[in-house]
Amino acid sequence: MSRFMPIAVCASIALVACVAALATRPPTTEPPVADAVENSITSFATDHPEWAVLRNDRRDATPIRFGHAKHLDRTLLGAPPGGLQCVVCHAPEPTGRAMLPISFDAHCRECHAADLGNINVAEGIIAAEMTPHGSVAEIALALDRKLGEWARQQPEKFAITPDAAEPTAPEPPAEGVPTKERRRGSARDKPKAEVPAFSSIEERDAWFTLQRSAALETLASRSRCGYCHTNAIRPGPDGIHFEIPPPNVPDRWLPRAHFSHLSHEMLRCNECHTANESHDTSHILLPTMASCRECHAPAVNGSGGAPHDCVLCHTYHTDAPASQGMRVVEDLRRKR
Ligand code: HEC
Ligand code: HEC
Ligand code: HEC
Ligand code: HEC
Ligand code: HEC
Ligand code: HEC
Repeated sequence: MSRFMPIAVCASIALVACVAALATRPPTTEPPVADAVENSITSFATDHPEWAVLRNDRRDATPIRFGHAKHLDRTLLGAPPGGLQCVVCHAPEPTGRAMLPISFDAHCRECHAADLGNINVAEGIIAAEMTPHGSVAEIALALDRKLGEWARQQPEKFAITPDAAEPTAPEPPAEGVPTKERRRGSARDKPKAEVPAFSSIEERDAWFTLQRSAALETLASRSRCGYCHTNAIRPGPDGIHFEIPPPNVPDRWLPRAHFSHLSHEMLRCNECHTANESHDTSHILLPTMASCRECHAPAVNGSGGAPHDCVLCHTYHTDAPASQGMRVVEDLRRKR
């Protein structure tokens, strides 16, 4: 029956671009943070510069759409009474120092499963099934599987008839042609796409490719994958390209220093992060250096008094890590 297997997974849907983007991680902030740093700092309390990611009006360039304010609104549909708490999405690592990465399955799926849409091929001839949350290649595979199953169930429709007319799929059949569906259905039934007659294997394969591209184009739209993934769809030399730019959500924002959430349990999250007011991913929700100085400075009139020597926050002579938002817990994410 392999004669009726439609198309091998081809990479025409900009998969090449996708892989290239993965290989060269785009900077997660704009403008990117320079490698060079201020190097004449004598005291945290007096001449330490603001964190580089908060200088020069940098914005978070993560290609995921997400508004904190909307999601923290107590009236958000699907949220528990009292609204979503930060820790629902930002659970601390076992050490308590940093936060574990965001994941679609753990933090978004419950409310947003429907936005994935259905694998809806051949204009609805095939019963729909929910799209997997995976790469474009995985989705293309799922589409092919669906088309393959369907073709195997009705081999007569896919037989090659060498004298058949040019196929004009996937259009509804011409007026008055008594298709099986029309004979069975009522007059009000929406006409479905019909499988054309194929005069060659090439024609048949081309028809399958067309079905798959149409289904992928729908998925790429702003109401599906594009709801959360920015730049999911872009014009290319031979039509629309569908790719998911690697989300690459940074899980460390200040890699040149260390920080511990556990040591600051006495503060509420929103005393350091203004998430409740943020409507856009582009905001970098980090506390400023001045906010640390309220405690990490010499004790004066009841403020300051917490340690402020360099080694509290820096390790001497370590390799300089990447200088901006980055993903260091890649392995953790993969293991989950
Ligand atoms: C309370 C914590 C804290 C203390 C104390 C502290 N730093 Fe920093 N420092 C930071 C953080 C956070 C950053 C930003 C790291 C990043 O951008 O990855 C930083 C950045 C820097 C940078 C890079 C500056 C740039 O141009 O981006 C240097 C150099 C530096 N610190 C030196 C020092 C020295 C020297 C001391 C002691 C006199 C010191 N720091 C004390 C937290 C601290
Ligand atoms: C529904 C899930 C969800 C909830 C609830 C949530 N966040 Fe987030 N948070 C995200 C996602 C997704 C990102 C990454 C995208 C982005 O940068 O906005 C993020 C990023 C962050 C970052 C990293 C810095 C940055 O600007 O990207 C901080 C800090 C943060 N959130 C703090 C909070 C705080 C504080 C709360 C509670 C007041 C909170 N979040 C509630 C999903 C959530
Ligand atoms: C409700 C928001 C939302 C929708 C809708 C959505 N995604 Fe995502 N997606 C995310 C978030 C958040 C991440 C980053 C966290 C993660 O990797 O789980 C992500 C990550 C990914 C990744 C990278 C996974 C990895 O391991 O790095 C791919 C690929 C992806 N999505 C594809 C898709 C496709 C294809 C669709 C449409 C069928 C889609 N997404 C729809 C929110 C969404
Ligand atoms: C408790 C349910 C819930 C969870 C969990 C949730 N969302 Fe939402 N989200 C909603 C609702 C409801 C809306 C529509 C709000 C509106 O338009 O008024 C929405 C809207 C959005 C929007 C469009 C508005 C905007 O903020 O840009 C995006 C994008 C989005 N969510 C992404 C995500 C991502 C990514 C995650 C996981 C990190 C997530 N959501 C987790 C319920 C949820
Ligand atoms: C004393 C101020 C402070 C408090 C309080 C605080 N944070 Fe942070 N948070 C930071 C700093 C500084 C960073 C940057 C650390 C880094 O990435 O190197 C950070 C980073 C983050 C990040 C990005 C991921 C990471 O681990 O780097 C998230 C998410 C986050 N905080 C959420 C929270 C939540 C949720 C709470 C409350 C439970 C909270 N924070 C309380 C200062 C604070
Ligand atoms: C409300 C006061 C307060 C604020 C604000 C505050 N800290 Fe702290 N921080 C402390 C105290 C108290 C300790 C514990 C000191 C100790 O263990 O001796 C501490 C510990 C630390 C440590 C050592 C953690 C460890 O266990 O390795 C670092 C690093 C640090 N703070 C960085 C920061 C940075 C960066 C900011 C600003 C974003 C900040 N702190 C804001 C009070 C504060």
